[in-house]
Amino acid sequence: MSREVTHTATGPKIVTPDDIDDEKGDVAICLCGLSEAYPFCDGSHRRAEGEDPDERYKYVDGERRRISIEFVDE
Ligand code: FES
Repeated sequence: MSREVTHTATGPKIVTPDDIDDEKGDVAICLCGLSEAYPFCDGSHRRAEGEDPDERYKYVDGERRRISIEFVDE
């Protein structure tokens, strides 16, 4: 499985001690690309459960959509 994620940031997020979760004592960085609190994990990765490993997805308004990618020569 894979999913297409659209990023709009044009620079890095500097992680500081203030980003540490007070309850858990850690910093969880989102690797699924679905977090509403990106770059931090907010549990949204649970929406990716059940994705077919042979498919590619994009999440639109929270809904999973299966997509295909076509590369166009420049
Ligand atoms: S890893 Fe992306 S929301 Fe948790």
